[in-house]
Amino acid sequence: MKKALLIIGVVFLGFVMSGCKQDQGPIEDDSDNGNVSYDQVQAIFDQNCISCHPSSGNLDLRRGQSYNQLVNVPASGYQGLRVSPGHSDQSVLYGKIDGSGRYGSNMPLGGSLSQQQIDLIKDWIDQGARNQ
Ligand code: HEC
Repeated sequence: MKKALLIIGVVFLGFVMSGCKQDQGPIEDDSDNGNVSYDQVQAIFDQNCISCHPSSGNLDLRRGQSYNQLVNVPASGYQGLRVSPGHSDQSVLYGKIDGSGRYGSNMPLGGSLSQQQIDLIKDWIDQGARNQ
């Protein structure tokens, strides 16, 4: 009898402890991408942009070219810099993908990036638009 109670007690304790464990995890924040590398940004360009942007809008987004075409470079069709480091709100690149229509057609032309991809590019700009 005592042994049975002990077993029930141990099992119960196990349940309680595993319950606690699940509650102790860090709170996930989907909008925080951590440090975004330029490789992550280039991967988005590779998949969604380079079919038109070796040349469209005088903008080459191919690997090895894109960074020097974007950061602190004036847009060819709009007032302002393509990417102003630290300021996604003042960057033509962000205004072209955020669905706002601030700079004409949304990119990729005829479609849109996922919210996750949009957030990633925003975070990269706001973190200083580093080339690493
Ligand atoms: C189907 C072709 C096409 C695709 C795909 C495309 N673009 Fe464009 N893009 C254009 C054209 C055409 C222009 C010039 C007209 C305009 O500014 O809307 C342009 C212009 C731009 C400009 C403005 C350049 C400047 O200096 O004036 C940016 C920034 C841009 N695109 C970013 C992107 C990004 C980022 C992607 C991928 C997410 C992308 N584009 C995908 C066709 C495309």
